[in-house]
Amino acid sequence: MYYRLRNSVGRVVRYCKQLRIPLIRSRDLAATARRVYNYHNLGVGVFPDGEEKTPHGSGERYNFDRMYFMVSTYDFTGKHVLDLGCNSGWFSLQAKLLGSAKTVGIDYEGIGVMGGAIEYALQLERRLKLGLAFLNANLETLDLQNVARNAGVQQFDTTLLLSVFHHIAPGDEERRRRFFQGVFDVTRDVIFYEDHEFWNQIIGDDGTAVAVKGTGHRFGWNEDMTWQRRMASLERHEHLVLEQYLNSWRKETLMLHRFAQVRLLGFSEKRRPVLGLFKSAVTQ
Ligand SMILES: C[S@@+](CC[C@H](N)C(=O)[O-])C[C@H]1O[C@@H](n2cnc3c(N)ncnc32)[C@H](O)[C@@H]1O
Repeated sequence: MYYRLRNSVGRVVRYCKQLRIPLIRSRDLAATARRVYNYHNLGVGVFPDGEEKTPHGSGERYNFDRMYFMVSTYDFTGKHVLDLGCNSGWFSLQAKLLGSAKTVGIDYEGIGVMGGAIEYALQLERRLKLGLAFLNANLETLDLQNVARNAGVQQFDTTLLLSVFHHIAPGDEERRRRFFQGVFDVTRDVIFYEDHEFWNQIIGDDGTAVAVKGTGHRFGWNEDMTWQRRMASLERHEHLVLEQYLNSWRKETLMLHRFAQVRLLGFSEKRRPVLGLFKSAVTQ
């Protein structure tokens, strides 16, 4: 009996090894998920006091809404993707599952608890071997052209700059501009951009303002998501958002005039506008 059992276990282990199915690693990954900041709803993870979780789920963001905005505008198949401030690598992973080619995610453990999630991304790739490249590096000092060269490309087709730019050299507009110029130069088609300000001027179908609860992510945004259902079309909001963006620091720093098309793709669950900054005009 004992020998039969031992042989069966041995067969399973050999079989898993042949198919490269990890036997132990998954536990490592779960342990890492428990240790790192749970921004992307990993199921477990560190969550600092004072931050707000999504109403359903364990983390801070739902992610899927922003992914939907991007894929409904841009075909990731075969594209080279750069995911700046990738955190746990969730968006890089989604891009790869959609058939992206060279896909590089960058985050930096040196900036504090949020950056530690890069460890999860690195480990995820070691486990899944999807061909993702993750870098633990400081975006403020990194040469993005070098990143492209190391990935074997001249430019990335698309760059994701989602909820990251407010972390870059805060208060130093010159450095922020230089950073964004680097992002612009390394991107061929489109930069997907979400910043940190909440859009409270939500308009309903009847043309009147929809009341939104709270003014920021710490103050109740997640208690009432009904604005998403009551909100009128994006077209109604697009010119308001773009007008406000053109009348703010974003006009110069994000070089909005350098893009062929700047489009509002939607509001994320944090009521932050998500924009597509297209270098050539899109027809959709
Ligand atoms: C608010 S999170 C956004 C994560 C992801 N982009 C998303 O939208 O779901 C900001 C991320 O940017 C990373 N980050 C901030 N400053 C950075 C820097 N100088 N270098 C690399 N990553 C940075 C943080 O560690 C964090 O993971």
